[in-house]
Amino acid sequence: MDKKIKTNTLLEQKVDSLLAQMTLDEKIGQMTQVRHFDDITLEDIKAKYIGSVIHTQGPLPGNDATEWQDKFIDMQEQALDTRLGIPLLFGVDAVHGQNTYEGATIFPHNIGLGASRNADLVEKIATITAIESKATGFNWVFSPCVAIPFNEKWGRVYEAFSEITEITTELTKASVRGHQGLTEPFTVMATAKHFIGDGATDFGVEGGNTTLSLEEVQQRLLPPYQAAIEAGVGSVMASFNKLDGISMHAHKAMITDLLKESLHFDGIVVSDWKAYSRFGETEIINAGIDVVMAVDGDLGMFQEGVRNAVLNGVIPQSRIDDAVRRILRQKFRVGLFDNPFPDKKLIKKIGIKKHREVARQAVRESLVLLKNDNDTLPLRKASKIVVVGEFGDNTGLQSGGWTVNWQGTTENYKDATSILEGIRKFSTQEVIYDHDGSANPDNVDVAVIVVGETPYAEFFGDIGGEMNKYQLTLSDAHQKLIGHYVEKGIKVVVVLISGRPLVVTKQIEQSNAFVAAWLPGSEGDGIAEALFGEYDFKGKLPHSWPKSEADYNGKYGPNFWDSGIKPLYPIGYGLNYK
Ligand code: BGC
Repeated sequence: MDKKIKTNTLLEQKVDSLLAQMTLDEKIGQMTQVRHFDDITLEDIKAKYIGSVIHTQGPLPGNDATEWQDKFIDMQEQALDTRLGIPLLFGVDAVHGQNTYEGATIFPHNIGLGASRNADLVEKIATITAIESKATGFNWVFSPCVAIPFNEKWGRVYEAFSEITEITTELTKASVRGHQGLTEPFTVMATAKHFIGDGATDFGVEGGNTTLSLEEVQQRLLPPYQAAIEAGVGSVMASFNKLDGISMHAHKAMITDLLKESLHFDGIVVSDWKAYSRFGETEIINAGIDVVMAVDGDLGMFQEGVRNAVLNGVIPQSRIDDAVRRILRQKFRVGLFDNPFPDKKLIKKIGIKKHREVARQAVRESLVLLKNDNDTLPLRKASKIVVVGEFGDNTGLQSGGWTVNWQGTTENYKDATSILEGIRKFSTQEVIYDHDGSANPDNVDVAVIVVGETPYAEFFGDIGGEMNKYQLTLSDAHQKLIGHYVEKGIKVVVVLISGRPLVVTKQIEQSNAFVAAWLPGSEGDGIAEALFGEYDFKGKLPHSWPKSEADYNGKYGPNFWDSGIKPLYPIGYGLNYK
């Protein structure tokens, strides 16, 4: 039997025959995605024919993976107990590993994988993420983000692989293949997001407006979606941004005409977070949204609104049928009708050594060596080393947003290794730790100073945006840490933990060696492996690197093809020991 992913007549017949038996309420239920807590009861799952459940920030489904699975099993049993017994999908924001479950393997964020440019590695990471997501009860992940960031002020730059379309396209393909597996049933269903223009808004505002022409959108932003579709991606998430003034959630020409019809995407278009409450359920469904995310608090009102709109002819019945056909098709492809329950045997695979080894490889390959004067690196094992700064020994800080919590954590992450711990593994001397620059250690040969951005996600991370908490440069305190050791005449190696290139021209000048480490995740010792020369540096810049804050005066970052601004380092820059 040919198990490859292609239009499968038998599957389409199953979908049609199920659809033909469904009432309007059952169809609307399939289009409704709820959270697993608050005012959603087990009875609601059954009574409102709910189609899918999301877990993101907020209360956890349980204390450990067994409890998470059990919670979802209880919900699934309700769904199976309905007249037609259509199983639920369970979706999660597993964007760098199953990052909502503390103890799962945390990989570098996509920007680091963009620096590695290693498609095989990205595929392996997605495979592991799928396994660990399944182990915690999920069959749908809201990843990969395939944005092309045009401005580093955007708070989601790190969720994207690169500013280069070709790199993004290649890694998208690998990510979808890894998540879903190459045959049906899928391991988990992947989601290419956010369609389209999320990273290309003017001035890098999350959810802002992009003034790119349709031609530019097609040339620069569309190829990763085409690649995802070719790889059989099960879903695409609509974006909060506007395209030339039109909200993407209400953009029928893009969602229905382009994505579904011209590109032949036959999977699910899922809305972003509670988009119905911003743009109206009728508008978004008519534009082509199939699953409406995070309906809670007003589940009854939402479903009634859709029902009335259909009965009054405002939403065509054919639109509802298209949505439900897509949902059922994917439920068959994920194998849910045969196998609706999570597998307890997978639990023991969460965070295992084999998975962490892949994460450590990803950390090593994502590091970009920007400067290395007079062979400051590799560090010598017999040198007297001081590790400086709170980022040097905090595994939450090194992991970035979407780690345990939506906005990340400043606490240590369970079973992770910090950069300090990694350095201690290799050094034959006592390694001193200077948390805040006050230690004044004697007879030190080299200071490894770890600085960077505290974790953020989405609009919280926009520079100069609504929240205005982040900046293009290092904080004063972090600049001082570097200045302090430079003044002492000690050799300085700076490791930068950040979700984007920052303006650090002066700090690069001051230091003897400088490494862009992005947001490495749980395996901080991967950084030490490269610093000590156990492995060579391989990473190449996935973004061009800015020189000054003035580079950001325009709509886009300094990097853009036609900006005329010369970056400090071009795309693809990266030194190594050889
Ligand atoms: C984000 C998405 C995410 C969703 C669910 C939204 O706010 O834009 O990327 O998948 O929330 O958490």
